[in-house]
Amino acid sequence: MPIETTPLHPDFGVEIHGVDLAALDDATFADIEAAYHTHGALLFRNQFYTPDVQVALGHRFGVLGIPPRKQFNLPDHPEISVLGNLMNPDGTPAAFFNEMGEEWHSDSAGYENLDGVTFLHCIESPPEGGETLLCSMTAAWDSLDADKQADMEGRKLLHSWNYHNDKVLKVSKAKPLSPEERAKIPDNITDLVQVHPVSGRKLYYISHNLVKQVDDWDEKSSLTYIMPLVDHATAPERVYTHRWRPGDLLVWDNRATMHTATDVSAYRNATRHMHRSYAFTGPHALPEGKLAPDSGSLKTT
Ligand SMILES: [Fe+2]
Repeated sequence: MPIETTPLHPDFGVEIHGVDLAALDDATFADIEAAYHTHGALLFRNQFYTPDVQVALGHRFGVLGIPPRKQFNLPDHPEISVLGNLMNPDGTPAAFFNEMGEEWHSDSAGYENLDGVTFLHCIESPPEGGETLLCSMTAAWDSLDADKQADMEGRKLLHSWNYHNDKVLKVSKAKPLSPEERAKIPDNITDLVQVHPVSGRKLYYISHNLVKQVDDWDEKSSLTYIMPLVDHATAPERVYTHRWRPGDLLVWDNRATMHTATDVSAYRNATRHMHRSYAFTGPHALPEGKLAPDSGSLKTT
């Protein structure tokens, strides 16, 4: 029986109804994968599964990464990192908690393979705040005027995960990566304007928290160029706001969408507890069994 869906936003995203991810057959997964490529983001509600279910779902999509901040990965499932404001009894963080607030990005920007799928599962959510926002980069491209589109064609962006992580470490209790770990995530030059490899739709790709450079411009000129494009993509009418409930799983295509967390001050006195995993998909996915570092989206949702 085909899956039932309802839109999350007029531009992109669907909620998928009536699926138990802990008992997923191949035909249903094929429908889910098709919906993913068509709509860019999927929501499943009431998924109270154990972590192995999320790992198995990731394997169906592609090759799972190991999040680089290993101190926050689940001991028995290192493909899943724990996010939120959980603390250990000794006062040290028990989850990765990024306090930089709203910062639109893509989780795949630090990697050669931009076809990354993020899985974000809600274990506990605060009564207010802690939302995740998403927007469609195909809709953003389609709504630009032709002159602007022509100006963007052929431009290159240099994305650097380590450049961003250095900024995050100034406001986070996460441990710095070793030189060896940093070297595993080299800077990445990508086309600003791209064609989605599955949907064939045009889009532009920016993860502005990682952008060091546009073409051969300096940082100031580069940011002056990209920020209006980020603002265009994230105009309020183009944004889907996800208000989390325990058991929600949100899945998104990191080439076709951008996302951001929201201001953490909205839930200082409540718990936000999430499980995040990440898989590389598409023809550039690494061979099965060779685990890659994940984008670590410092920002992470
Ligand atoms: Fe993220």
